[in-house]
Amino acid sequence: MSAFKYDLLKQDEGSQARRGRITTARGVIETPVFMPVGTAGTVKGLLPEALKEIGAQIILGNTYHLYLRPGHKLIQQLGGLHKFMNWDRPILTDSGGFQVFSLGELRKITEEGASFQSHIDGSKHMLTPELSIEIQQALGADIIMVFDECIPHPAERKYVADSTNLSARWAKRCREAMPAGSSDSALFGIVQGGMHTDLRKQSAEQLQEIGFEGYALGGLSVGEETSLMYEMMEFSLPLLPADKPRYVMGVGTPENLVEGVARGCDMFDCVMPTRNARNGNLFSSFGKISIKQAQYRDDETPIDPDCDCYVCRNYSRAYLRHLFMSREILSSVLNTHHNLYYYQQLMAGIRTALEEGRFHEFRAEFYRKRNQ
Ligand code: GUN
Ligand code: ZN
Repeated sequence: MSAFKYDLLKQDEGSQARRGRITTARGVIETPVFMPVGTAGTVKGLLPEALKEIGAQIILGNTYHLYLRPGHKLIQQLGGLHKFMNWDRPILTDSGGFQVFSLGELRKITEEGASFQSHIDGSKHMLTPELSIEIQQALGADIIMVFDECIPHPAERKYVADSTNLSARWAKRCREAMPAGSSDSALFGIVQGGMHTDLRKQSAEQLQEIGFEGYALGGLSVGEETSLMYEMMEFSLPLLPADKPRYVMGVGTPENLVEGVARGCDMFDCVMPTRNARNGNLFSSFGKISIKQAQYRDDETPIDPDCDCYVCRNYSRAYLRHLFMSREILSSVLNTHHNLYYYQQLMAGIRTALEEGRFHEFRAEFYRKRNQ
């Protein structure tokens, strides 16, 4: 019997937003949730203790990267990814479907799978639905994603239709490699269909026919207009079962999270808070700031006076600017800590607002602060 379940705790009245709870063998995840990205077995720059202090409930790992280096067999031999990286809360692994397809010229797709050349040493590999599941199971992920193709944008309709059907056949092979209830891990399907509502609908139906423990929207935030992404969420999310978690992959900005929640999304992941931190871009309730700007040279205030994270309690913008300009390692550490704290606080605020029936007011206040 799998320990995995989703409970819908409260449905918002003025929107599609929902407050829920995912239970896994490694603990509960209060939703809506943002999952920090830990591509290569580390959320870059942070100790697991800091991640916990920030309030991270679940993190994301990548099949593609860990398969190439250090290898899933080695990680399995060493007791699994949780033990290897000293993280005992849930881990979701992405299937490689996105990372392989980001390789461009280095890959080729066939019915069998995707052959590609390693970005590390140029060695040749073939990732199939079956191998992707084998890798994710060897890593010991709590939530496993089907192997799919993340369709680029723009793309010809014929390409989108063929790719969406191929992803559906791959999804079926993933389910067969990992039958429902066969382990404590959950398997999520990924809706494709590009920017075409009829293909999104077809994909959502194909996946539900196979049956998964949760459903994701893939192929979003791939260069389309934000309004088009919102349209796709608005159309696709209600097609998915209300009693299963819904995950929008690779999204996004703080605004995208608020709007995704309003459209019925429960889970998000994105490199934005971590990658931006390393580039000196810091999030706050009043918008984004670039810490390298000269105006912060002698600024004694914290990044965000409304933030009570470790960084904002102890360091000035002037010091953070100095660390960034000097390319100090601590710059990435402190910036990442603050950005992830901001994302976690945003989601915690959304959850409380949903519990108290004031998500509408929360959303209005969120935009008011940014525009003042
Ligand atoms: N991450 C962002 N988009 C996607 C997608 O379409 N598929 C997968 N597997 N991962 C993603
Ligand atoms: Zn802070």
